[in-house]
Amino acid sequence: MKDFLKIKSFFLPYKRYFILSMLFLVAMTGMGVLAPLLLKYLVDDVILKEQYELVPYVALAVIVVAILKGAFQFLSSYMGHQLGINTVYDLRNSLYQKLQYLSLGYYSRAKTGDLMARLTGDVEKIRNFLSGGMVKLTRIFLTFIAGLSVMAFYSVKLTAVTFIVLGLLIAVAYRFQKVVRPSFRTIRKSVADLNTGIQENIMGIRTVKSFGHEAFEESKFYHRNDEFKQAHLDSSRIWSRYFPVMEMLGGSCIVILLGYGGFLVLNEELSLGALVAFFSLIWLIVNPLTDLGFTINNFMQSVTSAERLNELLETPEDILSPQEPVYQQNNKTEINFKDVSFGYQTRKDTLSDINLDVSPGKTIGVLGATGSGKSSIIQLLFRAYDTTEGAVHVNGNDTRQLHLSKLRREFGIVMQEPFIFSASILDNIRYGDPYASMEKIIDSAKLADAHEFISELPQGYDTIVGERGLGLSGGQKQRIAIARALLVNPEVLVLDDATSALDMETEYHILSNLKSMMTNQSTFIIAHRISSLKNADEIIVLDKGKIVERGTHQELLQQNGIYRKTYDVQHASQTENLRRRSRAL
Ligand SMILES: Nc1ncnc2c1ncn2[C@@H]1O[C@H](COP(=O)(O)OP(=O)(O)OP(=O)(O)O)[C@@H](O)[C@H]1O
Ligand SMILES: [Mg+2]
Repeated sequence: MKDFLKIKSFFLPYKRYFILSMLFLVAMTGMGVLAPLLLKYLVDDVILKEQYELVPYVALAVIVVAILKGAFQFLSSYMGHQLGINTVYDLRNSLYQKLQYLSLGYYSRAKTGDLMARLTGDVEKIRNFLSGGMVKLTRIFLTFIAGLSVMAFYSVKLTAVTFIVLGLLIAVAYRFQKVVRPSFRTIRKSVADLNTGIQENIMGIRTVKSFGHEAFEESKFYHRNDEFKQAHLDSSRIWSRYFPVMEMLGGSCIVILLGYGGFLVLNEELSLGALVAFFSLIWLIVNPLTDLGFTINNFMQSVTSAERLNELLETPEDILSPQEPVYQQNNKTEINFKDVSFGYQTRKDTLSDINLDVSPGKTIGVLGATGSGKSSIIQLLFRAYDTTEGAVHVNGNDTRQLHLSKLRREFGIVMQEPFIFSASILDNIRYGDPYASMEKIIDSAKLADAHEFISELPQGYDTIVGERGLGLSGGQKQRIAIARALLVNPEVLVLDDATSALDMETEYHILSNLKSMMTNQSTFIIAHRISSLKNADEIIVLDKGKIVERGTHQELLQQNGIYRKTYDVQHASQTENLRRRSRAL
């Protein structure tokens, strides 16, 4: 309940719909109660008193009341839908917005399928309640009060009996929804699990197939699907019992009323017309009441969903732009790592004591074994994560004092696993600058050595890639990602293993293009191949999160450390290759 109220900021702006819906509901209930009263009049004052000439008028009145009731019902329900649809529209936008600003740390823990389920299924549950359930719940309450009050006006005794029987009905409905509730939580959770399973399977289908694991995946899915089915069966088992029990109780209610009411009529404590009116009224109350379980249930589902949505909405965004960012007007970017240490939640010492100064125009090479922390350094540069100790400075200011998106705009980053959107190659390249001219796009593609292969595609730059379209080779993806990063004219270009899938010649070509282009801008090149880094102004060698060697290529070769060993191994294998090739010839 608390959770439901927490999302009130989303429905408050539409409270006018809520108020109108409720007003029409009151009017509709009024009409509902009026009809039985007309019946009473018809029996007691028209038929029993043989004033048949009044019948057409009473009939007309009944019709008018029915039409009005219908009209009010329509309006009330329409306003309810307006409330639900509009609220959920805002809610969905806010959730999506939240997803954009949650930190990468959150995403490394979150499951896509679960997030998808929250944004679709859970939001839908809220809409269901706001659109229909809430009106229905109020309607049950209102008809109950109004109906019983009118009844009490004619016969307190009969009303008391009715009240007891109806109370039983309510108790049963309440009990049912209580029993069924845990199964809803299970259902929502298994929907999320099922979604996650399907989504991961589709994303990882290549791996699945390469291992021939189709059957294994199938059985994994069966298991999840089975849990889902079981959760549904559990709840349906309870529900299937619900309606017969409610019908039976409703029926008994009528019998008791008929028996006791007939007795009162015979004793002349109640008029025949009033008994007829009682019958109409009891139907008016019992009908929606049999739905009470469903409606409460609908409410409870939306409470569960509200819980899940609040959990997401309340997740702190730990990487935020400062309230008053330091303004910097700069054309060139200087970067300093000052005694930086960093750890992800699971490991505390991913990076330690990193000191690094990068002046504009310089190229920094980063070498290190896999897992030594190379990519993590980059994450700190653009504040994907914050340092645990020390600070990263950009032009003398701690990055945490700078406007976040302005800071990020300085960088052109090619990630280790570049992501290609399912869109045209053109859209993929101009992602960072949607208004870039075609000329500029082609220039970037040329610098990234991508223009040639793109031009050879049947649809050229308009070729759709990614999910729906043509697949790209690893090296092609990397080159598109490089072109995308270059297009934004970054002050700092970061290539995180971005040329790993390219042959040495292509790599050399791209790197020399960059060298001549990035005269005032700095470049970080992370690579495993010495050949990719050796022209850098400074090369740092990372080992277990620490800088263990630094210097130029020549200096490092003389140090006889990790760099030298790596060089020897790569050099030896290269000469070995050459030797083999010449022998083969
Ligand atoms: N999101 C994350 N959450 C927790 N730990 C992480 C995360 N990303 C990386 N790590 C851990 O941090 C350490 C350094 O990882 P990093 O990605 O920086 O290595 P790397 O040097 O780039 O390796 P590679 O050459 O394989 O790309 C590793 O032990 C890794 O397991
Ligand atoms: Mg890496």
